[in-house]
Amino acid sequence: MDPGHVPTVMILAVVLSLVGTAVTQQHAASFPEDFIFGAATASYQVEGAWNEDGKGENIWDRMLHEHPEYSSNGDNGDVACDSYHKYQEDVQMLKALGVDVYRFSISWARILPTGDLDVINQPGIDYYNNLINELLANGIQPMVTMYHWDLPQALQYIGGWPNPILADYFVEYARLLFDEFGDRVRWWITFNEPASFVGGYSSVGVAAPSQNASGIGDYLAAHTVLRAHARAYRLYDEQYRAAQNGTSDFFGINHYATKFVISGEEGISPSMTRDTGTVLVDTQNYPTGFRNLLNWIAAEYPGYQVVVTENGLRTGAGINDTDRIEYYVSYLDAVLQAVNTDGVPVIGYVAWSLMDNLEWTGGFSVKFGLYEVDFDDPDLPRTPKASAGVMGDIFRTKQLPTDFLQSFV
Ligand code: FCB
Repeated sequence: MDPGHVPTVMILAVVLSLVGTAVTQQHAASFPEDFIFGAATASYQVEGAWNEDGKGENIWDRMLHEHPEYSSNGDNGDVACDSYHKYQEDVQMLKALGVDVYRFSISWARILPTGDLDVINQPGIDYYNNLINELLANGIQPMVTMYHWDLPQALQYIGGWPNPILADYFVEYARLLFDEFGDRVRWWITFNEPASFVGGYSSVGVAAPSQNASGIGDYLAAHTVLRAHARAYRLYDEQYRAAQNGTSDFFGINHYATKFVISGEEGISPSMTRDTGTVLVDTQNYPTGFRNLLNWIAAEYPGYQVVVTENGLRTGAGINDTDRIEYYVSYLDAVLQAVNTDGVPVIGYVAWSLMDNLEWTGGFSVKFGLYEVDFDDPDLPRTPKASAGVMGDIFRTKQLPTDFLQSFV
């Protein structure tokens, strides 16, 4: 979601970041040799094929079919970028960008239409096997998000995430993913932005499943998600880690903008917003805030390598996206300073997004892509934007264009 939905923990982190370390201007413009670059998408935002080949309905299908008025222009993910059929083209775009990893998510209901192991949908498994194999054949590592907000509707019928039993379902789903794909996947992410998607249990029309239980449903959901994460982690650690890779844990962070807050109270009662005890004053693209946040993470979670799992800028249409280039280069410069000057162990950076896609209730008119997708053409052709050229150079050379940097830093 856009910066308006930055999770609470990040808001608090940002407050600290504003009083953080002083910025040192001198730094090398090269990332370490083994630094990992990538681009990201999520299943509901790009796959389409919402009811093809045995896929089950999920909570975003349900919400945007029943309530087209919740999204801009009534847009939904029925077709999206049609990556279900065009994944080979997507991989060629990734290859042209020179990425090391592709972060994508698995649609739970495409594999388990009812959310449970009763029905295992082989075409869904085949799709992700094909995608993973295509990536590897092109020298790109899969980075798999197990849950990027598209819960099977069947599990919402029993209450969704506020029901603690969802942790059991998630662990069985995780086991299936490790069994089916773990021989080739070295990067697993359990949940994308829990603090964002539990918002689906606190308000109407913003995020699925659109349940109005502010300050109760969202906390219950968050509790289940934390337990589900911990149990899936333990499952992997105890039963898969040794056999499948010599992997290591990492701290994944999505970051879009810095929020400036002061103490106070806002939001309805009860609500998570109110409980933070903060009032939002301003939101800005402020790369130094990101650098300071990375320093804060290193201090709070010592010993963990950090991967920036999303970073990007929303713009309007057009392929001459100078604003996106400026954003990426200045944020990458902040990462570089955190690594080279401050010694923060950031080992990777994944841009959001590979291509324009369904920005949830923001619809298709909100653009985050390195590639443009023409949603008016039924073939959904992809065209590289200017940012794809600049980011491709950065990904391949692991260097920032210093001349460009000097023009605006
Ligand atoms: C993040 C989401 C991602 C995308 C970006 C713009 O919060 O994880 O799916 O919508 O925002």
